[in-house]
Amino acid sequence: MKTFARPFSASLVLLLLLLWIVAPGAAASQDLEALLSRMTLEEKVGQMTQLTLQAVSETKGEPGVAHIIDHDALREAIAERHVGSLLNVYDMARTESEWRMLMTHIDEVTRTESRLGIPILYGIDAVHGNNYLMEATIFPQNIGLAATWNTDLVAKASRITAQETRAVGINWNFSPVLDVARTPLWSRFFETFGEDPYATAVLGTAAVMAMQEPGPTGYPAVAATGKHFLGYSMPLSGKDRTPAWIPERMLRDIFLPPFEAAMNAGLMTIMINSAEINGIPVHADKFVLTDLLREELGFEGIAVTDWEDIGKLVELHRVAESYKEAVFQSVDAGIDMAMVPYDYTFTDTLIELVAEGRISESRIDESVMRILSVKKKLGLFDRSASHPTARVDIGSDASHSTSLQAARESMTLLKNNGVLPLDSESTILAAGPALDNIPMMFGSWSYTWQGTDPAAYPAGIQTLGEELADRLAERVIMAPWGGYHEADRFRAAAYASDVAVLALGEVPSVEKPGDIESLRLPDEQVAIVRQAAESGARVVVVLFQNRPRIIREIEPYADAIVLAYLPGPYGAQAVVDVLDGTVNPGGHLPFTYPRFSGSLVPYDHKPSEASDILYGTNAFQPQYPFGHGLSYTEFHYSDLTVDAAQFDSHGTIEVGVTVENVGNLAGRDVVHVFVQDHVASVTPAVRRLRAFSVVDLESGDSARLTWTLGEADFSFTGRDLKPVLEPGTFSIHVDSLSYMFELHQ
Ligand code: BGC
Repeated sequence: MKTFARPFSASLVLLLLLLWIVAPGAAASQDLEALLSRMTLEEKVGQMTQLTLQAVSETKGEPGVAHIIDHDALREAIAERHVGSLLNVYDMARTESEWRMLMTHIDEVTRTESRLGIPILYGIDAVHGNNYLMEATIFPQNIGLAATWNTDLVAKASRITAQETRAVGINWNFSPVLDVARTPLWSRFFETFGEDPYATAVLGTAAVMAMQEPGPTGYPAVAATGKHFLGYSMPLSGKDRTPAWIPERMLRDIFLPPFEAAMNAGLMTIMINSAEINGIPVHADKFVLTDLLREELGFEGIAVTDWEDIGKLVELHRVAESYKEAVFQSVDAGIDMAMVPYDYTFTDTLIELVAEGRISESRIDESVMRILSVKKKLGLFDRSASHPTARVDIGSDASHSTSLQAARESMTLLKNNGVLPLDSESTILAAGPALDNIPMMFGSWSYTWQGTDPAAYPAGIQTLGEELADRLAERVIMAPWGGYHEADRFRAAAYASDVAVLALGEVPSVEKPGDIESLRLPDEQVAIVRQAAESGARVVVVLFQNRPRIIREIEPYADAIVLAYLPGPYGAQAVVDVLDGTVNPGGHLPFTYPRFSGSLVPYDHKPSEASDILYGTNAFQPQYPFGHGLSYTEFHYSDLTVDAAQFDSHGTIEVGVTVENVGNLAGRDVVHVFVQDHVASVTPAVRRLRAFSVVDLESGDSARLTWTLGEADFSFTGRDLKPVLEPGTFSIHVDSLSYMFELHQ
């Protein structure tokens, strides 16, 4: 019998260590004060300016064309305009040697040509591996990592990403997304850790800590970025960068916790939400960017804008009449750095605003100190430690096996009528749009921004079709032509097969290009599932997708459904491992899989959302519930215990449960601990996730799992918008067990 601690507390020692090393403000030491005192206003405002690499390049990112820096433009940016940061948005990946050359060039100009030699922060979106580096190790997208529920694995993948980013001289990663995915329509759903604030806080914080963990030089590999602060992920229309209406209570209960947890663990930077909440663009919202961020959360890291977002206050959001007014509003609201990104309009305008006395120089000093402090914490002033050619074995075998492990652990078996694992004798028809489509396995932010160009991917990535052909050889018939346009041919092939493996997928897309009108699957994908089933084959559906597409119509025709998310380079291998039983699937949904496009209700909904006249109080009927995931073995839960005796004195509650593997195979389960508050002054959610553990058990083995819950786990944002714990009746739910008890205070 094993005893497991709550995953969060397992990392506590590391957390405290990290807090000590990178605690916000710790590096704001005398030498930085001295440096600041030597800086002119132009030098200070330059630090607050971030330009895209395109602004200092001769080439404009044409595929296949080697990158050429415009040396004069770079010199002007660094030596004359004193820019503090560059960012990468060239829409193409580069090789390790190209990156090294590029970063060395930037570093040399900074060292030799600028008066103060203040190093540059170079930001990049390395969101599932360093996806703009050809040789880097690419991992499943965050939504798949979240389905593993494996905090250590998320940390490991994030550490590799950070190391493979710094190895080529890049010191700032615009990752992780800490937005909580509250609408499946949103085009960035796959970049999140799912719909739950607690899970996002735990997994997101693990990612941040791993990226910022001090390396052999004593400095973190990169600064992580919690994005996008705040409330980006629930646009009312479902479309990216459109208005959200989020009352403060919900902001605090749902969207804030992951940012707060990551900040408490030393998060160095945040990026601001491009959109508006409650009618106010966040880039101009002093409540969010100062009252909440600085005064309440005490965040001392950098708040960088998103792409061109100061200008958008004028052109798009129309809260500012002029660019000057927009700069005033955003700096006054609390931003530290503007992702301008092409020119010096921000720099010049901010200098003017200071000269006119509208923005004080002390306000500028605050932002500059934050920027310099992050540079110092990263060791950028320590030349010996920060040289861009620091050796890391990029794309090592060990890193690749971590990616394979993550892909395998993410595989989520949604349905199985016994067809899986496949019988070793059965003949198989393999078809579907994702069968030989590498971009559909990777999703966006893969070698290009949208990730759609197969030619941009490195050679040697195995497609699902190739993997099936290699491993099942003569038992498999390939039908990449699908069934929609060649229905008769497809039906005949399905008729001649025992099983049809149908790989459905979504073309990669992200941000505005990823807006969709409906969650419905394309007609031709629905059609091939029907045709295969009607021909008598048993149907196994494999889903690669950016967000949960509605599968209600095809689900009855499918004997098994495997959700692969966006698993990356080892997606094909991981899927076939599950199909043939090499791997017993253990992934669990980090979100509620909706049944209807018009019913996008998360698991932690209010009681009234679960009642209607048809089903009474059982109206919450998603396709698959949050946390769902089947296995080839079976688990049995018993002895749920709740000890609340110490609550008055210690504010803690002990929860325990026994899990037993009662099937014939070794397997993994993910155990979720939910709290239900029965009566509260603000309508309580039906349940809220408060702890989880991953448990691996041999057939016949059992484990006793225990967790300690604290006051925060039972409190919520009250009518006065302050956290409150109201004593009374609560229940703990684990699997199908529940335990009701009274909390006294
Ligand atoms: C995205 C950010 C990203 C930035 C820089 C923006 O369009 O919203 O998530 O970090 O571009 O590439």
